[in-house]
Amino acid sequence: MTKEWIRQRKKDPYYRKAKSEGYRSRATYKIKQMDERVRLLKKGYRVLDLGVSPGGWSQYARERVGETGLVVAVDIIPMPSLEGVTFIRGDIEHPSVREKILECSTEYDIVMSDISPSLSGNRTLDRGRSLGLAWSVMDLSLSVLKKRGNVVVKLFQGDEVGELKKEFSKYFWRVENHKPLSSLKKSIEIYLIFRGFYGCQED
Ligand SMILES: C[S@@+](CC[C@H](N)C(=O)[O-])C[C@H]1O[C@@H](n2cnc3c(N)ncnc32)[C@H](O)[C@@H]1O
Repeated sequence: MTKEWIRQRKKDPYYRKAKSEGYRSRATYKIKQMDERVRLLKKGYRVLDLGVSPGGWSQYARERVGETGLVVAVDIIPMPSLEGVTFIRGDIEHPSVREKILECSTEYDIVMSDISPSLSGNRTLDRGRSLGLAWSVMDLSLSVLKKRGNVVVKLFQGDEVGELKKEFSKYFWRVENHKPLSSLKKSIEIYLIFRGFYGCQED
């Protein structure tokens, strides 16, 4: 984090808004804006939040799903505890993490992933790692989602995004690209939203 980065961040309207509204991250507005657009979260939903720290997405999800819902969240780095959120520390690509996720619920209504790899500065490498992680998120989603469930997954734009969409769109009713207003224009991140999981029966 350079001094310039910190200066820019303090000027950022979503950073200020998050501070004043008590959210842990400016990223909170990304899921909020996508939810306002396509109604992703409802009362009573079971939510799996991948790449949660510091916890803005889970804070928002908790508000939306209410007392009857469930929020399970995973990250490789620690997260300060959040009321009503079950935190699992670990790598989503590790089988023991998948087991812990399934111990909390075997039928999630939504899997949402804001996972970013640690950036190397080499765009090709970073895009490849982001794509690999998005692929892992989708694989995991197929084994934990309930029918008609949804997935939101972040990844870095590049030609290979089409392959991932093609591979997984067959399991869903619809897939769309989203770039919420709060996602910085200069950032190459986009979100794919897969809606209406059909289940995984072999054809
Ligand atoms: C942009 S941050 C998430 C911000 C969060 N949505 C919020 O609103 O506070 C991305 C997170 O992905 C996590 N991450 C990266 N690779 C991961 C992996 N393989 N398994 C779990 N978490 C991972 C990072 O540790 C980081 O905390």
